[in-house]
Amino acid sequence: MILTLKDITKSYTNSTGKVTREVLKNLNLSIGEGEMVAVTGPSGSGKTTLLNLAGALDTPDSGEIIFKNFPLGGKTEPELAQFRNHEIGFVFQMHHLMPQLTAIENILLPTLAFKSNDKATQYAPELMEKLGISDISNQKPGELSGGECQRVAVARAHINKPSLILADEPTGSLDEQNARELVSLLKNVNKMFGTAIIMVTHANALAQDMEKVYSLKNGTLTAH
Ligand SMILES: Nc1ncnc2c1ncn2[C@@H]1O[C@H](COP(=O)(O)OP(=O)(O)O)[C@@H](O)[C@H]1O
Ligand SMILES: [Mg+2]
Repeated sequence: MILTLKDITKSYTNSTGKVTREVLKNLNLSIGEGEMVAVTGPSGSGKTTLLNLAGALDTPDSGEIIFKNFPLGGKTEPELAQFRNHEIGFVFQMHHLMPQLTAIENILLPTLAFKSNDKATQYAPELMEKLGISDISNQKPGELSGGECQRVAVARAHINKPSLILADEPTGSLDEQNARELVSLLKNVNKMFGTAIIMVTHANALAQDMEKVYSLKNGTLTAH
């Protein structure tokens, strides 16, 4: 397993410390190396909460998150930052590209965290070629369509060759055709590089395209 979530519970509290919402309850999930899964669930069901925990952006109230045999619970904040940079790629509903940078410069942004990023600079054009987006390499987000921006965001998520990509409603702001193309791009990344992917969506039709589909309801996951 690349990622295991064991008996995860997560609540949010208000400013007075009162629990306002128990979002995840005894949730369990295991993702194998190179596996691609979809998580569906209505708005507010806890999908983003789940991905934030899986990507070590937040911590559970109880339960354990184990990544490649290492419990995240025992790690310090610098160790977690290092972990995220090396092992996790993020794709969000909004592309969050820097408007003043070209597509290829945006893709290279996550490599700036590393001392030697010459290899990545060489790898980026090759990656864009593989993902079929080399023609837009030197264009800025303002000159690209929503679908193209999201494809650049997928390339950016992969540039450090993470073993897991977390995609939070990556097709949420795209039309049907572009949404389908984005899912097939994610599937290509999964196949070509063996990257495990968790894709969260509330579009059931897109989820059905995945190897495994889980639905999040009442704080827990059920396999379809
Ligand atoms: N930081 C937060 N503080 C308080 N409540 C939150 C916070 N983040 C999310 N919630 C609440 O937790 C529930 C689940 O949110 P979220 O994980 O964003 O759901 P989804 O991504 O499925 O729409 C919602 O009711 C939301 O209002
Ligand atoms: Mg969400």
